[in-house]
Amino acid sequence: MAEPNSHSEDMVPDIVTQAIPDDERLWVPQAENVWFRPLFLNTVTGEWVNLLRVRRSGVLSRHRHPAPVHGYVIKGSWRYLEHDWVARAGGYVFEPPGEVHTLVCDDDEEMITLFHVCGCLIYCDEEGKACGFDDVHTKIEMCRKHFADAGVDEQVLQKLIR
Ligand SMILES: [Fe+2]
Repeated sequence: MAEPNSHSEDMVPDIVTQAIPDDERLWVPQAENVWFRPLFLNTVTGEWVNLLRVRRSGVLSRHRHPAPVHGYVIKGSWRYLEHDWVARAGGYVFEPPGEVHTLVCDDDEEMITLFHVCGCLIYCDEEGKACGFDDVHTKIEMCRKHFADAGVDEQVLQKLIR
């Protein structure tokens, strides 16, 4: 009988990486003054973990979540236009399914937040109508294109995909 903590051949490899990278090329541009750093991209469960970095009054388009999102603020602060609270370094945020919001960073100081996103972001227009989306597959495509343009080894991305 196998030891409870023994390694199984069915297990996928660990991911152990410098989350805030020394290599600037690992930040993937998402919008003006907005980047993400992929950490875990799961094509089986449709979820991903990434760092979001916003500098100088960046805005992440208004969107809705059909599934939960967990966030942990590592650096700086930000808020949602639709709420009256401010997320600050050390803070935890839970975004329930159904939540619609627009992330803004008012400070000149950069903010970095770790987000665990399940499902997708459904982008919404002024009337709340869906006008686009991001899911783990579009995130992977964005990474693939940016890394190819920036000359990052394909294996760097491949190691983050499950
Ligand atoms: Fe969100």
